[in-house]
Amino acid sequence: MAKKLGIFFAIFCILLTSSFADWNILKEYKTTNSGLKISLKNYCESWRMNVELHNIRDYVVVPQECVSYIAKYMTSTQYKVDSERTIDECILHLSTNCILENDGKDAWIFDIDDTLLSTIPYYKQNGFGGNKLNVTSLEDWISQGKGTALDHSMKLFNHLKELGVKIFLVSSRKEHLRSPTIDNLVHVGFYGWTSLILRGQEDECKSAQGFKAEVRSKLISKGYRIWGIVGDQWSSIEGLPSAKRTFKLPNPLYYVA
Ligand SMILES: *[C@@H]1O[C@H](CO)[C@@H](O)[C@H](O)[C@H]1NC(C)=O
Ligand SMILES: [Mg+2]
Repeated sequence: MAKKLGIFFAIFCILLTSSFADWNILKEYKTTNSGLKISLKNYCESWRMNVELHNIRDYVVVPQECVSYIAKYMTSTQYKVDSERTIDECILHLSTNCILENDGKDAWIFDIDDTLLSTIPYYKQNGFGGNKLNVTSLEDWISQGKGTALDHSMKLFNHLKELGVKIFLVSSRKEHLRSPTIDNLVHVGFYGWTSLILRGQEDECKSAQGFKAEVRSKLISKGYRIWGIVGDQWSSIEGLPSAKRTFKLPNPLYYVA
């Protein structure tokens, strides 16, 4: 009996450790500056929250001890729910705050990476935010057109088309990636935008934020009313001129200034 119980217990432990294996590291403890004893999970959750609040900026890599936590978040239902909520708020904003004039000048701006197309398949194979960005390898991946659609954003994209709002895609992807970008977007179901604005040679030394603000300035001078912007980086939505409202999707994987 005791032996049976022992075997049962051993199997139970194996099952338990295998299902919680990737959380084990998060049971480690840390001490905050005020002396509060917290788990690594508390630490990483607070790191992620402060990234989203834009209190933590300009990080080059995800802190090493949080890479497995961030990997888990980015592939979780929570990430999907958080993103879907962002999009639901965009749709609410359109129905409550926007009086569309339907004169061809109502506009909305989308970023591309991790707004319309997910780069998670790339980061899955490249250290999940723990490695310094290798532009060459990321651009190689982009040129294969393997980004997956973010379904929640597609819901907004199609809703805007139905409303007759002109869609502008403003991305800091470079011009030489135009054709694989279009192929990838269309292949996964995004089509019918008004203009795809990428970074030309003259824009390469500009920050993403400066480049995107300049694009908005040009659109406004052409008479467009920008009702909203949605992006996963603060650099997609900050700076002047802005839109009626801006929406930030979650993305703690990397920071683009
Ligand atoms: C960056 O990626 C390219 C292409 O995959 C590779 O050849 C190069 O060695 C990488 N550079 C670094 C510093 O890892
Ligand atoms: Mg992006």
